[in-house]
Formats: sequence, structure tokens, C-alpha cells
Amino acid sequence: MQENELRSSGWFGRKGKDGFIYRAWMKNQGIPEHEFKGKPIIGICNTWSELTPCNAHFKELAQSVKNGIFEAGGFPVEFPVMSLGETLMKPTAMLYRNLVSMDVEESIRANPLDGVVLLCGCDKTTPALIMGACSVNIPTIVISGGSMLTGKFRGKDIGTSDIWRFFADYQTGQMNDEDMYTAEACLARSQGHCAVMGTASSMACMVESLGLSLPQNAAIPAADSRRKALAHLSGNRIVEMVKEDLKLSDVLTRQAFDNAIMVNAAIGGSTNFIIHLLAIAARIGVDLTMDDFNTTSKQIPLLANLQPSGKYFMEDFFYAGGLPALMKELDSKLHSEAITVSGHPMLRNYENSECYNRDLIATLDKPFNPVAGIAVLKGNLCENGAVLKPSAASNHLLQHTGKAVVFENIEDFNKRINDPELDVDKDSVLVLKNVGPRGYPGMPEVGNMLIPKKLMDTGVTDMVRISDGRMSGTGFGTVVLHVSPEAAVGGTLAIVQNGDIIILDYKAGQLNVQLSNEEIAARKKNLINTTNIAARGYVHMYQTHVDQAHLGADLDFLKGSSGSKVVRDSH
Ligand code: FES
Repeated sequence: MQENELRSSGWFGRKGKDGFIYRAWMKNQGIPEHEFKGKPIIGICNTWSELTPCNAHFKELAQSVKNGIFEAGGFPVEFPVMSLGETLMKPTAMLYRNLVSMDVEESIRANPLDGVVLLCGCDKTTPALIMGACSVNIPTIVISGGSMLTGKFRGKDIGTSDIWRFFADYQTGQMNDEDMYTAEACLARSQGHCAVMGTASSMACMVESLGLSLPQNAAIPAADSRRKALAHLSGNRIVEMVKEDLKLSDVLTRQAFDNAIMVNAAIGGSTNFIIHLLAIAARIGVDLTMDDFNTTSKQIPLLANLQPSGKYFMEDFFYAGGLPALMKELDSKLHSEAITVSGHPMLRNYENSECYNRDLIATLDKPFNPVAGIAVLKGNLCENGAVLKPSAASNHLLQHTGKAVVFENIEDFNKRINDPELDVDKDSVLVLKNVGPRGYPGMPEVGNMLIPKKLMDTGVTDMVRISDGRMSGTGFGTVVLHVSPEAAVGGTLAIVQNGDIIILDYKAGQLNVQLSNEEIAARKKNLINTTNIAARGYVHMYQTHVDQAHLGADLDFLKGSSGSKVVRDSH
């Protein structure tokens, strides 16, 4: 690419009043004149925030990226966007994913950037940044922040998935407050995101398998110095990508999406992967539907022995060879010719990798579990689909018929779940309504509902649970999620009543309530919609424009791209 073809030359290459203004104010940061003369300007989109602990080390990471950009002859400019911390934000970080994507999109387009580096970490920061960047489509590379070191608690390795176990022990009196405080500090003992194959790690694997990062992005721990080296190399590479004009749309082909789906199945990745990948595909203009997840991952078994589906942690995964070693096992299935941000086919990223721990990365002929992936269910309870993660479910519940125990909303659930009088047994199906995109709003991670205490006391550890919400990628159980249409828009879920018979048939890919079409229609006719739509602000916009889960829960007007051209460009 020639100097005068750089996008940034539309700002810094100008003469006259406008060029003067563009350069002069940048010079207040001590930037000498030669930096404006034809160097690729690379934005570093930073989700650093002390309110997003998983991304709190991103200032250091950004410095490594800058070093790499300077070294390659580019000029780095770091800019903040809204950050999404999974643990603190209320009502749920997912409510703001689309807002952040708008922030990212407009920040990139409005500024003199030739390329951009996305610094992603905690769950929603990854899809939000990629979605926004897709709607501009300039050369883009992604760096994930890396996972925490494995937690250590009283001689045991622990991670985020243990929270659910700790809480169950707390409820049954096996842990007290002091035990819980100690466990907190032992779990989060270093910088980085959740140390299991939860949503953040699944997103980091998604980034690498889509070809959006350099190899080993998925698993190098945040505290490992090689994470900074990778950031430095990514800084080098983005400058070259600008010169080659290698854009997101060149990398994000249908083959890249297929690769990501297969890899997510093999790693036992988060159910949230499906909703984020659908949203990203719609932004970049790749035709992807829920059904593609069933067909594309059909032949893929579980190869990674990682929590929550298995035993190990992300740190162990890196030492075992990381994602390249796992992708090498999948070679016969993958589109190895798909181009990545390195400018080379995907094959180059993994062909020379080695596995150093066969108890963690299995082979295709001897997988850990022949059952993997995210199963998409259909039926009269979810006409547009619902999802289930079979590798995190109990085998004996995958074919199950039971009576519904219905909760109208999360407050109703919290109030009654431990009521000793609740009419529930181990074969019941817990049904939670109004936790979908529009109804909650924002589709929180409450789908893996707690088992009623009176059943836990008798040793019950799993039940079939159904909702229009999501589940943390660190969660597990026989949990049907993302029911679409959601209750708040009049989906069949809204008319389910206590005692209705629900049939989960994983083998047939079906989820049904045993009611006639006439009965369903009659109940829907009498349905009173109680959803509160916010009167103003972003939440009002979200609730009136959010798509259903099977479409990725993006805002309907954000699909596609507006490109990188600035329409009006004079002061
Ligand atoms: Fe940030 Fe788990 S809370 S990745």
C-alpha cells in the first residue's frame, strides 16, 4: 500500500487548515513531525478497567503491542472503549455487549486509523470488539489477555467452576464463611481471566481458530512473559497487514467460521460461543444459522480434558501444547487452507506443533468423550431453537420426561426454590421464564439454576433445567438454554404451567411440551405480557431492537457493515 493510500492520510496528509488542526493537537503529546509522514497509524482498542479485573493488566499488554508497532515502522495510538466486567456489572454484562460494539465501531471509523489491535479478555469484551470492528472492516488483529494461573486451595487445583461446588457445600454446611473468604483469594491469585474453559477462554480459542490472532493466543497464561512477547509480535504483524491491506473480511470467511465451530466442540467450549459467533457472522456478512452448529460439529468428539467438561485448567492446556496441538489433531476435519492474520493458511499455525500431555489433549480415534459440541434443539417449546452442552450434562438426563416446576421470573425463582413446600422431585424439570434478551433484559447467566436444597440434601446433583437465559461458560449440568422465541415475546415457554409434561430428547434434537397445538394457541391467546420496557436510554433502545437468541441477540439495525469511509470529513 502506498503512503498516500493510507486511510490516515485523509487526516495527517492534508494541507491547509484541516491538516493543521489534525496534526497540531496530536503534537501536544510530544509527537515529532516525521511520525505523521506516511507511517501506518495503528489503533490499540483497550478494554482496560479496574472494574474489569480480568482486563486490569491491559496497560502493560498495550505497551508490548506499541513496542511491536514502533519496531515495524508504524505509529501506535491507544484508545479506550467501554469495558465489560462479568463479575460486577448489573443487571448483566451481556446487556452492554452491543453498546460496546457500537463504541468500537464508531471509534475506529471516526479516527485516522489504518489498522487496529483489539485487546480482549473478560467474556463479552471479545465478541463486542470483534463485532464493532467487523462493521468497519479495516486490517485488524486480536490479542486476548490470557487466563489466570490455576487456583490453589488447600492442596487442590481450583477454578471458576468450583464456585458452584463451593456454594453447594456452603448451603449444606460443609463450608463456612471463613472457608469461603480463603477460597476467594486462592481462586483469583494472578492477573487474567477465568482459568477454565469458560466463556473467556472459549472466546480466546474462537479468536485463534477464526484466524484472527497469531498462534498460541488462546492459552498462554496472562502472567506468562510469552503473552507480552505475543503482543509485541502482533504489533509487528498489524503494520504488515496494513501494507498488505489484509482486512477482517479476508480472514472471516465461511471456512473460518466452520473451523471455529469444530474447535469449540473439541475443546468443550462455552454455550455462549454460539450466540456471539452468530452475531459476528451477521456483522461480517457470512450466512450462519443455528442449524450449522449441529451439522458442522457432528463428527467432532471432545478432545480437551478441561474444566468444566473435564479435569485440567487453561495453564495446563498451554503446557500441553495449546490450541495448535489440539488443532493438529483435528487437521483432517478443518479447512486448513483458511487464511489467517499471519497472511498464511491456518495449517502453518499448527502443523509443527506437538502435544506434551495426552491426558489433556486426546487424539481423534481415542477422544475423551464421543459427545461434544453444542447441541441445537428444536420443538414446540423452542420453535427457533435452544441449546444444550451435552459434554457438561448428565448422560442419564439427556433422554428425559418430567413434570414442569415453573418460575415466572428470577425473583420468583429466588423466593421459592428452597421452599420446603415446593412440589418438586428429582425427575421434575425446572422451568425459568423471562430471562431472555428482551425480558430480563440482557439474557443473564442464570440458566444453571440451583438445585432445590431439599433435593441436594438427598444427593441430587443435576436436574433438567430450561430457560430463555444463558449459562456461565464455567457452569455445568443438563441445562437447556437460549430458548427462542423467549417468553417475553410470547414464545411457548411463556405458557408452560406447573405439572405440564416436558420431553427432552437429545438424540432426536427435540424439546417439547406435551400439549396439543390447540391448547398452546388457546393459552397464548390469554397470555398477558408483563414485560417492562424501559422508558428511556440505552436499555429502551436495546429492548425495542434486540434480536432473539437464535439470531445472536444483536440489535437489528447493527447487522452488516457501514465500511470505513467517513461520510462528512471537514470541520
Ligand atoms: Fe472475567 Fe470469568 S469473570 S473471564
